[in-house]
Amino acid sequence: MSQDAIVMLKDDHKQIKACFREFQKSTTTDARKGKLVEQMVELLTVHTYVENEVMYPRVRELMPDLEDDVLESYEEHHVADVLVMELLPMSPGDERFEAKTTVLIENVTHHIDEEESEWFPKVREGLSRTQLREIGAEIAEARERAPRRPEQPSALKKTIDAVVS
Ligand SMILES: [Fe+2]
Ligand SMILES: [Fe+2]
Repeated sequence: MSQDAIVMLKDDHKQIKACFREFQKSTTTDARKGKLVEQMVELLTVHTYVENEVMYPRVRELMPDLEDDVLESYEEHHVADVLVMELLPMSPGDERFEAKTTVLIENVTHHIDEEESEWFPKVREGLSRTQLREIGAEIAEARERAPRRPEQPSALKKTIDAVVS
């Protein structure tokens, strides 16, 4: 039995937010912050991929009323992608490393809050449990082929698709 799509995505959010919280602790060392950013980048690359490839198009198709929320979400993913790309070549000693990571954290936190409190609840209302499990199965499949690093071709294609199509 496959898992409910919203449960899966919220699970990802939890992991992402745990990284954010550790990064923001005053006791976290620079070396650890570097590792945490690597982890954030991987989690976000996979997560935005499965949402862009599966969750968002399915919701758009099944619940046309949520079109605006979905379009705004694609744009927010795009902003996160840009920040991640700029963060990649940086290391914890760089002057702007901390500031850029903080802006990424603020943006993604806002985005996750919108998903969880504004439009995922409407999706839960509007779709049946079976539909949510079917989408969950597709998400599990997409996760298998998802890029882990933002510079992998499938990650770049995702970015282009989100902006162009
Ligand atoms: Fe998202
Ligand atoms: Fe999400």
